[in-house]
Amino acid sequence: MSEIDFSIYSRQTYNDHINKYERCGDETIRFVNARKPLVALDLGCGNNVYKPFIPNLVGIDIANVNADINADISKLDYADNSVDVILAFGSINFGDESTIRQQLSEVNRVLKPGAVAIFRGNESNQHPYYGWNERIINYWARELKFVITYKPVHIHKLDVWGNPLLKNRNDKRTLNGEMRSNIRLYWHYSKSLA
Ligand SMILES: C[S@@+](CC[C@H](N)C(=O)[O-])C[C@H]1O[C@@H](n2cnc3c(N)ncnc32)[C@H](O)[C@@H]1O
Repeated sequence: MSEIDFSIYSRQTYNDHINKYERCGDETIRFVNARKPLVALDLGCGNNVYKPFIPNLVGIDIANVNADINADISKLDYADNSVDVILAFGSINFGDESTIRQQLSEVNRVLKPGAVAIFRGNESNQHPYYGWNERIINYWARELKFVITYKPVHIHKLDVWGNPLLKNRNDKRTLNGEMRSNIRLYWHYSKSLA
């Protein structure tokens, strides 16, 4: 798939669900498809919206009925060194350090050496979020011997026209009485070749 075939969704639906955050839409899909993955996993896939756009993508979610497999990221039913690419958008994002260690260890175990996992994480350290930041991303790379192949960058949530919803990192909106930022972190870990 060299160009993205939008025929399954209207452009607006696509923007609503996939181009929801900078870099997580067209850019990620093109990056993944250029690698021609034989096995690709969308961990915590939610409604599994990437599936039509990435051949061989399997959506895994603990709760969502639209997933291909309902399972916990903490225990992936895949062999060691068997997966070509992983998406983890807003999903390895919850719980405490031991949960994150277990989930990232699973990512590391199943990836082929040199294969890439693409992350979007929430910086908020309010429950239930883990609270990613650059220091923690570096920490897990050292701990689990990931190579950071795309340094963490702040990405904005986008409106359906592709414009950043809020420009300022300190801007907040209230949802259910909770203060939330529309900015996330985006980065890639690659499994070490060593
Ligand atoms: C914020 S949503 C993101 C959904 C989708 N990746 C996206 O970008 O729109 C987080 C998703 O991760 C799933 N999730 C959270 N913890 C999980 C776990 N331990 N195992 C599998 N799925 C999990 C949730 O059920 C939810 O669908």
